Amino acid sequence: MAGRIPQNFIDDLIAQTDIVDVIDSRVKLKKQGKDHRASCPFHNGNNKSSFSVSSEKQFYHCFNCGASGNIITFIMEYDGVEFIDAIDILADQLSIEVPREESTNGTYPLNQSIDRKNLYQLMADITHFYQQQLRQHRHSQKVINYLKGRGLSGKTVQHFKIGYAPDGWDEIRKRFAISIDQEKQLIEIGMLIEKSTEGKGSYDRFRDRLMFPIYDRRGRVVGFGGRVLDNSEPKYLNSPETPIFHKGKELYGLYHVKQAYKNIPRILVVEGYMDVVALAQFGIDYAVASLGTATTSDHIHTLFRHSSEIICCFDGDKAGRTAAWRALENALPYLQDGRTLRFMFLDEGEDPDSFIQKNGKQKFEILVKDALPLSDFLFQHLLTQVDMSNRDSKAKLAQLAIPLITQMSASVFKEMMEERLITLLGVEKSALIKLMSQRSISSPSKQSKKVTPMRLAISLLLQHPKIAYDLPLFPEFKEINLPGLSLLNQLLDICRTNPHINTGQLLEYWRDKPESQQLKKLAVWNNHVDDRKYEDVFLDILEKFLTLHINQKIEQLKMKSRKGETLTSAEILQLTSLLTR
Ligand code: UTP
Ligand code: MN
Repeated sequence: MAGRIPQNFIDDLIAQTDIVDVIDSRVKLKKQGKDHRASCPFHNGNNKSSFSVSSEKQFYHCFNCGASGNIITFIMEYDGVEFIDAIDILADQLSIEVPREESTNGTYPLNQSIDRKNLYQLMADITHFYQQQLRQHRHSQKVINYLKGRGLSGKTVQHFKIGYAPDGWDEIRKRFAISIDQEKQLIEIGMLIEKSTEGKGSYDRFRDRLMFPIYDRRGRVVGFGGRVLDNSEPKYLNSPETPIFHKGKELYGLYHVKQAYKNIPRILVVEGYMDVVALAQFGIDYAVASLGTATTSDHIHTLFRHSSEIICCFDGDKAGRTAAWRALENALPYLQDGRTLRFMFLDEGEDPDSFIQKNGKQKFEILVKDALPLSDFLFQHLLTQVDMSNRDSKAKLAQLAIPLITQMSASVFKEMMEERLITLLGVEKSALIKLMSQRSISSPSKQSKKVTPMRLAISLLLQHPKIAYDLPLFPEFKEINLPGLSLLNQLLDICRTNPHINTGQLLEYWRDKPESQQLKKLAVWNNHVDDRKYEDVFLDILEKFLTLHINQKIEQLKMKSRKGETLTSAEILQLTSLLTR
């Protein structure tokens, strides 16, 4: 069983790949000065050069939407894949194998170091087995009748690889758990459930259910949704969160939509598996479903990467309206010119599946065409929250609307929303701007960056890692009490021993660590230090920290003697040497 990928391999991978080549093969870049520019692939702005790629730093950054990272981040974001897959893709390009560290004691390795290839293979094999069972199992007539009753054709069933999990506690177990390792893997991917008394084995999670395989964006089965064939509960059973399946990220049907279009004109978000499948059968081949969760901001982010028009379709009941509002709130930060989000509501008791089966494609597409623009839905909803005949109603409306609008990035669309609010409030534009600016000043995300010596030092080091190469060790640094210093120390340690390390490699050490966001910002922060002077400025700051340390130490020793404690001879020696420095 393979273990985790060694850090030095990841390091080498970044070093051997040129970020400019890799990005250029996906997004056409234009050389501009030292950097390469393009219009940003992560948002639909109209600025043709907000996206900048630095060959020197091996790092990209968009000045508008703030997307940034090294080559691994780019592949993850652009190709919509996970970390391990991004590593695979880059290694493939260099035709090298991804090595794995041996797990130390022969026990089962941690989640992140599981051999994923085998997990995907297991899921593929199980999908195939469920499909077979749909045709061969002694209950297959019952299942086929159910599918017929729901109006699904054999072609549709085939297209989505819908299958049947037979009734039994060890149908999967006896076929696939052929070794202890394999059984553990099946538990890990949620297909088997471990019995509560440890060592007592495991049993099948899905029994006597219609199985919908869930694909990731690369077309690999990562989970299942299983529906009962009668009215028992729970109606749907879903795979749990596993190392390869994250519900908040995946969307059922997205892979199929991607297969159907080169450029996806619009994506319809619905609630259920059956909705996606039935819509596709009727020719609406652009629907996806969130997996029994709310539409998260991760979903919205993903969807807008694939298409500039998203339509959320909900039931017309109260729950549907609430879900739609949640989706709206999650979407606001991702809206830009050129992107549209609209809302479509069906009559109570109806869902896309039942609607299209009854009324057909054309009627459904009329509803899609008439979906409410986000701004209409937003104000409609807010106006149901306030009684406009009331004296305080306008203040209340402003109070509700302003926090929503300030979340949006600057755009013509945002201005239109502001105009609309102004009309509703009957105030001057200046009054609104004042209200909005008060709001944005108080929001912590907008705080301007203060130039502290620590920030400056870290940003200089991130941007020019070579300044630290061969720098002497400063043991004093480990003792100074200063916010950010331990981070600076870690950076120094890495750069000191790696002569050619670049920004992209350096930041890789902090992937998924809490400091990562802040470091990425400092890596592109314009610190206004002249390109010829950064080394001096950096050394000056280190010098200052040392002086600070000396003063702190002297104070400490003096304090001790003042309090009447006797200094040891070593301390006296230290004090004299410090004072002479
Ligand atoms: P619905 O209850 O609306 O089901 O749940 P549906 O999609 O219309 O299914 P049919 O038509 O009765 O077969 C919508 C979605 O919520 C999740 C599923 O993803 C489902 O598709 N859900 C629902 C669950 O995860 N578990 C449940 O028990 C019910
Ligand atoms: Mn339904």
